[in-house]
Amino acid sequence: MYTDEIKQEIGALLKKRNGVLLAHNYMRDEVQEIADITGDSLALSMEAAEASAEVIVFCGVHFMAESAAILAPEKTVLLPRLDAGCPMADMVTEAGLLEMKGMYPGAPVVTYVNSSAAVKALSDICCTSANAVKVVESLPDREVIFVPDRNLGRYVARFVGKKFHLWDGFCPTHERLKVDDVIRLKAEYPDAPFVCHPECNPAVAALADHVCSTTGMYGYCSKSPARRFIIGTEAGILYRLRHENPGKEFILASPALICPNMKLTSLEDILEALQTMSPVVRVPEEIRIPAKRALDRMLAIPRD
Ligand code: 13P
Ligand code: SF4
Repeated sequence: MYTDEIKQEIGALLKKRNGVLLAHNYMRDEVQEIADITGDSLALSMEAAEASAEVIVFCGVHFMAESAAILAPEKTVLLPRLDAGCPMADMVTEAGLLEMKGMYPGAPVVTYVNSSAAVKALSDICCTSANAVKVVESLPDREVIFVPDRNLGRYVARFVGKKFHLWDGFCPTHERLKVDDVIRLKAEYPDAPFVCHPECNPAVAALADHVCSTTGMYGYCSKSPARRFIIGTEAGILYRLRHENPGKEFILASPALICPNMKLTSLEDILEALQTMSPVVRVPEEIRIPAKRALDRMLAIPRD
């Protein structure tokens, strides 16, 4: 089948099944191109909860589809590639978190959405890279347990006067961006602001002109008067940055900034998922209900 035929078939099946196609900002270009909505983890979770569609085709990684299934249990959530996981999410287990809770009794657990439903179920509140500072500020407590991303936790700690007990997790993709890569590019393009994701190592984030979520990057780069930018996040972000800012240049801070999991989903996978109505992501009620509580508490915090 030719690419255009696959795209047409996907469109026809989405209509027939009353489906919506959501794609994370790191997905392959051709997937972002046909998505009804592209966005960061927070925006996509909210879309999933609010969409009137009966079927959600979630082009992202497993924890994102799980979040959609937690928030919208009455909808069918399809994850075209069940093997698209997140190594950072896998770094924190329920047993490990329970042990940490035992070490710091009374400290609320703030869990980055890059985590399993079972870990969310043991948490007090979730956060994303777009709202983590606000989420931690919203808590009355002076100490928090923050899982699983130590880099996001350290970044938030820069702004919030609380004690952080950090889980030692990280994103292997963002961790591959090194200080030397940034220093070299800053010397080569002195006029270009360096913008990075808080999943980057703190030494890298310290060199940034702006640190933000993927959606934050679109806003920053379109508003900035700069003509070129050094981008410190997964390569998939370049598709929309270039599309929405034709006069500007975007330089990826390292060729290693590619998340293999985010690159798995192809147009053929999406078509097959819609044809077979599988794989479906479901979360058992005994996990879904407490996990939803942690997500709802986060979603109740007003967005900027
Ligand atoms: P967001 O900016 O969408 O939170 O993305 C970070 C990420 O790594 C998702 O896996
Ligand atoms: Fe996980 Fe990092 Fe890939 Fe995001 S970019 S899905 S945090 S491994």
